[in-house]
Amino acid sequence: MRIPLAKPEILDSDIEAVVRVLRTPNLAMGPALAEFQQSIAAYIGTPHAVAVNSGTSALHLALRCLDLKEGDEVIVPSFAFAAIANVLLQERLTPVFVDIDPRTLNITPSAIEAAISPCTRAVLVVHTFGYPAEIDAIQKITRQHNLPLIEDACEALGAEVNGKKIGTFGDTAIFAFYPNKQITTGEGGILVVADPQLARRATLLRSQAKDDSLDWAGQHTEIGYSYRIADINCALGTAQLSRIDSLLEQRQKRAASYGARLRNHPTILAPPSACPYGRISWFAYVVQLAEKFSRQDRDRVWEALRERGIGAGRYFAPLHNQPVLQGRHRRGGSLAITESAASRVLALPFFVDLTEDQIDEVCSALLAFLT
Ligand SMILES: Cc1ncc(COP(=O)(O)O)c(C=O)c1O
Repeated sequence: MRIPLAKPEILDSDIEAVVRVLRTPNLAMGPALAEFQQSIAAYIGTPHAVAVNSGTSALHLALRCLDLKEGDEVIVPSFAFAAIANVLLQERLTPVFVDIDPRTLNITPSAIEAAISPCTRAVLVVHTFGYPAEIDAIQKITRQHNLPLIEDACEALGAEVNGKKIGTFGDTAIFAFYPNKQITTGEGGILVVADPQLARRATLLRSQAKDDSLDWAGQHTEIGYSYRIADINCALGTAQLSRIDSLLEQRQKRAASYGARLRNHPTILAPPSACPYGRISWFAYVVQLAEKFSRQDRDRVWEALRERGIGAGRYFAPLHNQPVLQGRHRRGGSLAITESAASRVLALPFFVDLTEDQIDEVCSALLAFLT
């Protein structure tokens, strides 16, 4: 794509940080891993962080640590990345899909409360596209019902609610660092947690569940995984995190530039430019086409943009309609907003280096197709 959908900002200082690790023998489980974990924990304001090889691995460990059993229900959005369904199905849990707010595209406290059943064992909230969910109200509900709360903050590093970083509201929270994210490690993810026992368990599970505190002959008491992340990736992550404020500010500026061109246009619903109770960490710039447009119209625009070399994305097809989910989920109420919004969303090119000229070109092409 001439104007890609996403791309990372890699500076010489990032490259030097990676090369520094390559000049040592510590390519895995070394000091760069410890430093990355400490840096993320300090930035989020949680006591512990366990870095792994992907956001999906972090999510899997977060669920694994809850010791749920087959058929237990977990409340989740259907308008979400496939990793959420995949890890729940892998654990033989039942996703209970709830609807979203039409503007923020996040699940709401009232939809969650209405979906709670005697089989509910956890709530998994996604901060979609970096717009923070109403996590303090959701936290009140989960506490009232004595349910664990997991924050999937893979798309929302640096977002805040009432002055507090997201990732500090749930019992655990996870972040991801694929190259389209606010900071990247190439591939990678991290679980943050306050409870030291949980942090220890996730650390063991990350590497074959080998517990060195036990006798050599019996160090494996449960199934473990190979979810380690290399120190090279961690060094890149720490270098990127050192300029997170500037990265987020630049993303915010790109979003404002899009907003200035697209807001109040009759064919487009631009995403909210600010959050009344917190701070957005812009992951993607996702517009909704006006309600008069069909899914086929959206797909034609998506294709037309791509034919012009403009990267565009159709995030996300509703999970509850995916073939793999049939017979394996429950609907926690109507999913009408999910279905309607999902058929009209379009992600536009969004990255730090995006120029005003490129934003002009994307918006002109988009509006020309729609009018
Ligand atoms: C909301 C959400 N959850 C989980 C993930 C999984 O992260 P990864 O692709 O690093 O496995 C992503 C990745 O984009 C995501 O957006």
